[in-house]
Amino acid sequence: MMHNDVEYVMLTEEQIDKRVRELAAELDEYYKGKIPLVVCILKGSTLFFTDLIRRMETKLTTDFMRVSSYGSGFVSSGVVALEKDLTVDIKGRDVLIVEDIMDSGNTLFKLKEVLGSREPADIKIVTLLDKPCRRTAPIQPDFRGFEIDDKFVVGYGLDFEEMYRNLPYIGILKPSVYEK
Ligand code: IMP
Ligand code: MG
Repeated sequence: MMHNDVEYVMLTEEQIDKRVRELAAELDEYYKGKIPLVVCILKGSTLFFTDLIRRMETKLTTDFMRVSSYGSGFVSSGVVALEKDLTVDIKGRDVLIVEDIMDSGNTLFKLKEVLGSREPADIKIVTLLDKPCRRTAPIQPDFRGFEIDDKFVVGYGLDFEEMYRNLPYIGILKPSVYEK
């Protein structure tokens, strides 16, 4: 069973739900009178994205992007490939990028550069998790759920080798899982 692979739960479903509602309220306040384009970064952000937008009362539109930062294992490289682009023009739009976790910041730094060149009115980043101690790129989230230590986490959209995305909480895997 999947849960047997988890060493401990770092953030419970209840903690995540409470924080997501708070973030939604902060975003509603920020986007008052605007119609932001809320962009889900596949695949890790899917659970956070769907929970976040359903808690927001702001009128908004959505789109999806997939970027991959090549690099093996746990460390992302500085090279970011656009695997699936947006389907709408963002010129003049207020764009909100929804990310699962900010680690080195490389992925979002590059992504912000790409989207910024398309002349949006505004680009903001909301990340559920932030590991500021790991940051190497000059970028910070505008809104964030939780600051966490330098530990590899899974669940609530986040994966290890594509698995564990469907855990309803955020947890740490047992060392034996990585050794397999
Ligand atoms: P960055 O470019 O180094 O900020 O990497 C961000 C991406 O790395 C995230 O979107 C995740 O896909 C992945 N990542 C970073 N830390 C973790 C983690 O603790 N668990 C799962 N994925 C992670
Ligand atoms: Mg990932």
